[in-house]
Amino acid sequence: MNYHILTLFPEMVLDGLNTSIIGRAVDKGLLSIEAVNIRDYTKEKHGHVDDAPYGGGAGMVMQAAPVCDAYEDLCRKIGKRPRVLYMTPQGRVFNQKIAEELSSEEDLVFLCGHYEGIDERALERIVTDYLSIGDYVLTGGELPAMVMIDCISRLVPGVLNNDDSAEIESFHDNLLEYPQYTRPEVYEGMRVPEVLLSGHHKNIETWRRQQSIKRTLERRPDLLAEANLTKREQQYLEELRREQKKELAISEEL
Ligand code: ADE
Repeated sequence: MNYHILTLFPEMVLDGLNTSIIGRAVDKGLLSIEAVNIRDYTKEKHGHVDDAPYGGGAGMVMQAAPVCDAYEDLCRKIGKRPRVLYMTPQGRVFNQKIAEELSSEEDLVFLCGHYEGIDERALERIVTDYLSIGDYVLTGGELPAMVMIDCISRLVPGVLNNDDSAEIESFHDNLLEYPQYTRPEVYEGMRVPEVLLSGHHKNIETWRRQQSIKRTLERRPDLLAEANLTKREQQYLEELRREQKKELAISEEL
């Protein structure tokens, strides 16, 4: 996977992504991360890349030409025209499914805006996907690009040490991950669940699935509609729901 980030702050994204697991994957040649400085494509004497909005209003707008020229130069260099993801709170909200879809691309361009945004004509010309990381407004697109790159990268084969750890974690199958424990067996009087010490793999697997279902019901019940449960697991979920209702009735009586 080759990422190309069009930004006014190349050091911000490169510093953030060249560490830890993503940094190691870059060293291994599984990923490449290139930051293109949009400012390098200005034709103005003072290096300006922004100007006041037509029609008035607060703030500055990034000009179309340096953004489009940066993209066209990139396309010339790599000999293809990859998808351009524009980071904006007006976009589709990024999720695991979108990450999975994007992880099959060979090249991705992340376009990061600043100030009051980018001249609409540049967006019309080059953007293929408008993506947000949530319903809040940040000062620029760099952090959203880093979030998405981190998430997509861990789906690229070989990036995670353990090949199946990307598979079983939260959101695979629309269930949250089960709780994890490590040494010591007792911490401040709290014991590790007995089943995990039993060495009985089938029981451990059942317990983990049940914990995932329980946790999803408690924390993200909206996900359960899309979860793939066996008949047995559906019965378990119904039991949990009945218990939940009973507890609610008791607390309302008090
Ligand atoms: N730029 C500013 N806020 C954003 C958000 N929430 N998601 C993506 N890009 C943004």
